[in-house]
Amino acid sequence: LLPTTFIMTSFPVDQTRAFGKLILFGEHFVVYKVPALVGAVSAYTDCKLEYTTEPGLEVIDNRPAVPLYKEKKMDEGIEAINLTLTHLGVDTKKSGVKLTFGGDLCCASGIGASAAQVVSLARAVNIADSRSLSEDEINAAGYEGEKGYHGTPSGIDNTAATFGGLLRFQRTEGAPIFDKKTLVSPIRIVYASTGITASTTEVVGDVREKKEADEAWFADLIGKYTKLCEEGQKAVEEGDMDKLGKLMNLNHEYLQELTVSCKELDDLVVAARAAGAVGAKMSGTGRGGLMIALTPTEEIQNEVGSALEKLAPQVWKTTFA
Ligand code: MEV
Repeated sequence: LLPTTFIMTSFPVDQTRAFGKLILFGEHFVVYKVPALVGAVSAYTDCKLEYTTEPGLEVIDNRPAVPLYKEKKMDEGIEAINLTLTHLGVDTKKSGVKLTFGGDLCCASGIGASAAQVVSLARAVNIADSRSLSEDEINAAGYEGEKGYHGTPSGIDNTAATFGGLLRFQRTEGAPIFDKKTLVSPIRIVYASTGITASTTEVVGDVREKKEADEAWFADLIGKYTKLCEEGQKAVEEGDMDKLGKLMNLNHEYLQELTVSCKELDDLVVAARAAGAVGAKMSGTGRGGLMIALTPTEEIQNEVGSALEKLAPQVWKTTFA
């Protein structure tokens, strides 16, 4: 009898790492082809791919996650995996595929867990098939996968997941434009989860409806945001944390005007500022998900972290360097 599973004993999972991300400026606006700033966190998702003799797809998901995240994202996740595999020419009707996802990235709305999952999958296909996909090809496969989570991804999450670092990102009619920022000083962040898992498809769809209902209002808001993002880049380049914090606060106001924030996010933002953060905003899709706070020193980072732990179900620290 043939064994049903061919186990690769030395699959180099550490070469399949794909990072989570936090958006400093520009969630939602970035869908409409204006620049955004995004930082990859050091936490990652990895993936092991084994071909099995029985056709079909088996997914073992060992990623840590906030409660209910995996249940809510189950169908979209399978769709995203299938889109990525199809893009890479892997046909699970012909050869069986067993995927095991792991890593230390805690899945929560806003952290780019979906992008990290599909980018790590693309890396795993690359290794299992001994292909020599370029980083751009890995990123492109991740972008296709992201479409499983929502129809019109900007590409910001998969790009951060693939390349890491702090990136200026802009979607265009063609390939996106992005470049890595060199930082003059580290950017210390505390980020906290509301514990609420939002649907990116729904929230991005609502923003589109609001835009189409009042194009003049949206044009004015995105114009103000674009100016803010330019100033934000300058603040990053100059290592001016006070300015960066003020701009994050203003970006949060613009997101409130877009109606993508919510009481839980606003409460965390207020608490972070009261505990010493020089700026705080929601990050990612919104209507739940994450908020990020800028904390210039280790001491402030610890203080803000402790204050938020009293309010939020999960709190993390990261530093863009
Ligand atoms: C999600 O992390 C960021 C959004 O701007 C969607 C996207 O850019 O694809 C809300």
